[in-house]
Amino acid sequence: MTKSAELPPLSNTLVDPFGRKVDYLRLSVTDRCNLRCTYCMAEDMTFLPRQQILSLEELRDVASAFVELGVRKIRLTGGEPLIRRDIIKLVSAISALPFLDEVTMTTNGMLLPKMAQPLKDAGMNRLNISVDSLRPDRFKALTRLGDLDVWHKGIRAAKTANFTKLKLNAVILSGFNDDEVLDLARYAIDNQMDITFIEEMPLGEISSHKRVNTQITSQALRDQLETEFELTDSVETTGGPSRYVRVAGSDSKIGFISPMSNNFCDSCNRVRMTAEGRLLLCLGNEQSMDLRAVMRSHPGDSALLRSKIVQALQDKPERHEFDPNRTDIVRFMNMTGG
Ligand code: GTP
Ligand code: 5AD
Ligand code: SF4
Repeated sequence: MTKSAELPPLSNTLVDPFGRKVDYLRLSVTDRCNLRCTYCMAEDMTFLPRQQILSLEELRDVASAFVELGVRKIRLTGGEPLIRRDIIKLVSAISALPFLDEVTMTTNGMLLPKMAQPLKDAGMNRLNISVDSLRPDRFKALTRLGDLDVWHKGIRAAKTANFTKLKLNAVILSGFNDDEVLDLARYAIDNQMDITFIEEMPLGEISSHKRVNTQITSQALRDQLETEFELTDSVETTGGPSRYVRVAGSDSKIGFISPMSNNFCDSCNRVRMTAEGRLLLCLGNEQSMDLRAVMRSHPGDSALLRSKIVQALQDKPERHEFDPNRTDIVRFMNMTGG
């Protein structure tokens, strides 16, 4: 039985004007990152000054307000969430919230060698770990600062800490790493992990390539995978946008997140908090509410915070209109963590 089965009735639940119920919060804890993936960031990024970032207490208060309003899953994101000082304290505080089913994290894995066990001990339920290449030189080139050996150490540490069913996330760019789809899938399967392939979205202006030239659809990846694996569609969901297939003869699932080729907005169940406390109602639009201003002008007023969140939800857009030829959204992914 999940904890939410014991939930008392809520007076305010989070339902948007299109009838979608929001029960999933993605909480960015920092805009900083220890990598500079070419499709995600410009090389010379400017980051937010520290006083503009939500404090640990503010992050906990936001998480608590959302859980009181019916959110059942919180994913911590960044930038890279593990570089946030006191992240373990935050995980402990969030995982102790009554009625929350899951606290999860999306990380690049570089700090897992020392942090996997403390995360597990603090109550982290699941980890999604990004990896776009398993070739050391290419890994370095794509991440600008990464080291594949450290990434492998992180995976071993996560396994030792007993994180079961790790999920890998790979963004596939045509001409950069689309020749590694089979290798990445084989690696996940051989190591009893799931893997999700993500289509690149036009978030932020980058210098490394024109996004329109690197688009590749999930269907093209699936066609590649089917040359080696027998895949069957699955109805399983982790509450995220991934559509999963099962691989014959293995326990691993392969997922596809296809914002460009197969819009999934009609089933959207989430909102995001940026590290500076902007409640962003959609990854592909700019509608937002400044919850940091609410918390800093009325410290401790949890009823006001909840009512502002309910009000903000009325502005949730129906869908994104991503076009790989245009960068309508100048915000880079590190502001929102995906
Ligand atoms: P689980 O289902 O819990 O495993 O997680 P998830 O797939 O929701 O989270 P994850 O951080 O692994 O998401 C992977 C990537 O999918 C993100 O980094 C984004 O690139 C993309 N993504 C996640 N949610 C959305 C969304 O609401 N809209 C769009 N357009 N893309 C999303
Ligand atoms: N399009 C799709 N995914 C992206 N990510 C970062 N930038 C983009 C983008 N423009 C992914 C990272 C990581 C997750 C946090 O978001 O690779 O898996
Ligand atoms: Fe939801 Fe916006 Fe993502 Fe679509 S793009 S699934 S509406 S957050």
